[in-house]
Amino acid sequence: MKLAATWALAALAAQAAGAAISHKLNGFTITEHPDPAKREQLQKYVTWDDKSLFINGERLMLFSGEVHPFRLPVPSLWIDIFQKVKALGFNCVSFYVNWALVEHKPGHYRADGIFDLQPFFDAAQEAGIYLLARPGPYINAEVSGGGFPGWLARVNGTLRTRDEAYLNSTNNYVAHVAATIAKAQITNGGPIILYQPENEYTSACCGVDNFPDGVYMQYVEDQARNAGIVIPLISNDAAPEGHEAPGTGVGAVDIYGHDGYPLGFDCSNPTVWPSGDLPTNYWSLHEQQSPTTPYSIVEFQGGAFDPWGGSGFDNCAELLNNEFVRVFYKNNFSFRVAFMNLYMIFGGTNWGNLGHPGGYTSYDYGAAISESRNITREKYSELKLLGNFMKVTPGYLLTAPGNSTSSTYTSTSDLTVTPLLGSNSSASSFFVVRHSDYSSRDSVEYTLKLPVAGNVSIPQLGGKLTLGGRDLKIHVVNYDVAGTNVLYSTGEIFTWKKTDNGKILVLYGDTGEHHELAVSGASKSSVVEGSSSGITSKKVGSALIIGWDVSTSRRIVQVDDLRIILLDRNSAYNYWVPQLSSNGSVGYSSQETTASSVIVKAGYLVRTASLQGSDLHISADFNATTTVEVIGAPSSAKKIVINNQTLDTTVDKNGILSARVHYKAPKFKFPSLKDLPWKSIDTLPEIQTSYDDSAWTAANHPYTNNSANPIKTPTSLYSTDYGFSTGTFIYRGSFVSAGNETSFAFHTEGGLGYGHSAWINSTFIGSWIGSVFRPGETYVLTIVIDNMGLDENNGPGYEGTKDPRGILDYTLSGRSADAITWKLTGNLGGEDYQDLTRGPLNEGGLYAERQGFHQPEPPSQEWNTSSPFTGVSQAGVQFYSTSFDLDLPKGWDIPLYFDFRNSSSSPAPYRVQLFVNGYQYGKYVSNIGPQTAYPVPEGILNYQGRNWIALTLWAQDQNGAKLGGLDLISTTPVLTALRGVESVDQPKYQKRSGAY
Ligand SMILES: *[C@@H]1O[C@H](CO)[C@@H](O)[C@H](O)[C@H]1NC(C)=O
Ligand SMILES: *[C@@H]1O[C@H](CO)[C@@H](O)[C@H](O)[C@H]1NC(C)=O
Repeated sequence: MKLAATWALAALAAQAAGAAISHKLNGFTITEHPDPAKREQLQKYVTWDDKSLFINGERLMLFSGEVHPFRLPVPSLWIDIFQKVKALGFNCVSFYVNWALVEHKPGHYRADGIFDLQPFFDAAQEAGIYLLARPGPYINAEVSGGGFPGWLARVNGTLRTRDEAYLNSTNNYVAHVAATIAKAQITNGGPIILYQPENEYTSACCGVDNFPDGVYMQYVEDQARNAGIVIPLISNDAAPEGHEAPGTGVGAVDIYGHDGYPLGFDCSNPTVWPSGDLPTNYWSLHEQQSPTTPYSIVEFQGGAFDPWGGSGFDNCAELLNNEFVRVFYKNNFSFRVAFMNLYMIFGGTNWGNLGHPGGYTSYDYGAAISESRNITREKYSELKLLGNFMKVTPGYLLTAPGNSTSSTYTSTSDLTVTPLLGSNSSASSFFVVRHSDYSSRDSVEYTLKLPVAGNVSIPQLGGKLTLGGRDLKIHVVNYDVAGTNVLYSTGEIFTWKKTDNGKILVLYGDTGEHHELAVSGASKSSVVEGSSSGITSKKVGSALIIGWDVSTSRRIVQVDDLRIILLDRNSAYNYWVPQLSSNGSVGYSSQETTASSVIVKAGYLVRTASLQGSDLHISADFNATTTVEVIGAPSSAKKIVINNQTLDTTVDKNGILSARVHYKAPKFKFPSLKDLPWKSIDTLPEIQTSYDDSAWTAANHPYTNNSANPIKTPTSLYSTDYGFSTGTFIYRGSFVSAGNETSFAFHTEGGLGYGHSAWINSTFIGSWIGSVFRPGETYVLTIVIDNMGLDENNGPGYEGTKDPRGILDYTLSGRSADAITWKLTGNLGGEDYQDLTRGPLNEGGLYAERQGFHQPEPPSQEWNTSSPFTGVSQAGVQFYSTSFDLDLPKGWDIPLYFDFRNSSSSPAPYRVQLFVNGYQYGKYVSNIGPQTAYPVPEGILNYQGRNWIALTLWAQDQNGAKLGGLDLISTTPVLTALRGVESVDQPKYQKRSGAY
């Protein structure tokens, strides 16, 4: 405390003198600038003002989605995600790095193979996506320990504070990861434009000193700077509270940002939007907290996580659906958000024990791109409408958000309008119209009073506008389409572009709606495609007004050299705006795209387009027979070439090219998993009397290294004190009976959804009724604990990562606690983990895992032939392995998943781990759920070749357990442009020296 007071005084003195002052912390010199917002720029590529970032001098809105490379451990699939994000009209992806996966042993940073970040950077660059790097060291992210490796539980200091022991623990990781990120900064020609130090440093607990601690934050920032990070630092406050915003003193970041999860994480009532959950104060908070930086929402709700026993991701996808997208995201535009990152845009999988206890294997998140990478959720399409609009609307960033009102701009107080006003009467303005009760399902009719052409009432040509239930619209005023001024439009803009001989503007609305737009200085219009019924036009003053009823068939209206394409929302979903390249390089620039893009009507997905001579190449994916049309192609384009196949191409009178792609689902066969030859062994030999545990780690520390949790037992039984932090743990306690023991009680911890089973010698304690011990004889307790991961470390003082795992306490009646001598094991080697390819968390402490039998080609010749469908008839843990071949057609993206079924409606509880070619890709808990379907990506599964799968079946009931069903199932195959998906390394079984 005294130290802090001294600093504060020194800071005041320094400010008075206008000079920088320095602090020493852990060998670092921390320099406090009087005004961090004005500190020297380290580079010229990424700059900012109060309205937006500039990249290479270009002002642009960054529309971003969160992707975690470690949740899709197949590097050759990363390009697929980036292209699907790019196709949304987005230009950025934010990613975390998970420290627990790359420095499992203190001082040993290891980021190769599937953990190498460079291929992720390369794929981003190929797709034309900028990156925000978020390496922590603390990330939260619903991963084990919040990204802290298990050994941090032994740090004698409070995590995420200036305690020297904690700061020291982070040095090696940050030095490595930040240096890797530094190499891929935009300043070095890479895709990374922003860096976020720490994460959600927003609240503290339990009387921790110095919160928020700017000196600590500055240490974290200096670690990055010292490793070569020169791009701007952005923060991510867990709520808009202004922590570390520029102007708050030492530790301030360059650009302030915050989170927003307005509908929370309970997906059990997916149609209910509780009142008051729509943010309305973001802009006023921004003006108070960080008026000099672009308004940035570094995480905005893109779905929700779901815990063990939760309601499942289909519900989360419904709660955070296409309606959520249009109401909540467009509402954020009313705050002139200039950086918006959706968490998650693709969730992926908590494979190999990487998740925290509050989540299960799937991390689908109900995101726009599903866990199996498909984009059939309507929210993806809705998001594409928004992303493409923002991409071609730079004028948005120059407006000033005004106060919301339900009287000034509309005819009804049922609606509320937030204006984004241009700086003068000819500049672009935007009017964001929503229901005053944001969750309303009513359709409301209205007229608009906009400050154009003398405050006219719109529609001018008669009729009413309509805002449907759970919708929100953005009406534009003075919208520039390549030199043509659209005075206003109530139809929403999807995109526009300049062509060789004119301009194209694409508008959409919902069927049944009436819309109107006005084009300045235009004289006449004609309908050049589709029926003119329902379309009216009239010259009013110097503008031409066009009114139309939205129809499900496309109409094109020509106004001078502007072609206006009128669509209904569902049809608009089929349109894509790839940037046209000549050399395959997609690039980044936003405004350039309005000249160099093409508008493609297709179906499932359009990835890229390029012009080669007169061939217009399009790479695209299809899940149905589809007519592909290209609108606004360069006049030299004559033929459509899809995925390198030249198609019969027709050109209509409006210059629209079209060709047809035939889709015929391929035929392929899957093995019936039930009928495969399964080999099996008991993977709990520990309960046999002959079992020798001499190689096990003795749990003999009479103290704990866990500074947050004193022990209650004579020796520590906390797993992390002995280097075990992942997967199943087994404890063995032996005692010599005095003959008077009547009960054994114990308290374990394995995180939310965990379980344990215990035996005395070979007797399952669940069914043990206190049989008589023979004095002088040795008895062994075996306790198996399912560890679901380490808890997150929510803020300084919470010390969640230190919540112990293992046995917390026990009593053996009639005896003192030290009558029992304990040993334990987790994964073979603990922090000296065996499987460098699949990483430190993938395997736990069961016998078969310690031996490595979960990998391909285990030595199963001598094992029993028995299957998990027959199962076991008593409590215990059984291991199964089998293999099968797949021969799936190339050129198809075929999502596969393993589907578990119970054997009866209320089966005895059991726990299963599923290994696919050695990667743990599923943890199924029969009595908790909710997950039963486990997607496994191509690359973990070999689509053309042999696959080895293994299961651990842990029967927690004395009567045993068996699977009701397990099938390999595919969803709709997608004819894909994706090429070069490579299987990752799948080391096969080799005898492990020292395995016990
Ligand atoms: C932190 O590291 C420094 C430099 O290696 C060392 O001098 C210091 O003793 C360490 N502090 C703790 C608490 O481990
Ligand atoms: C942690 O450090 C404190 C002093 O800072 C010391 O008293 C305590 O014994 C240490 N605890 C452990 C487990 O090393």
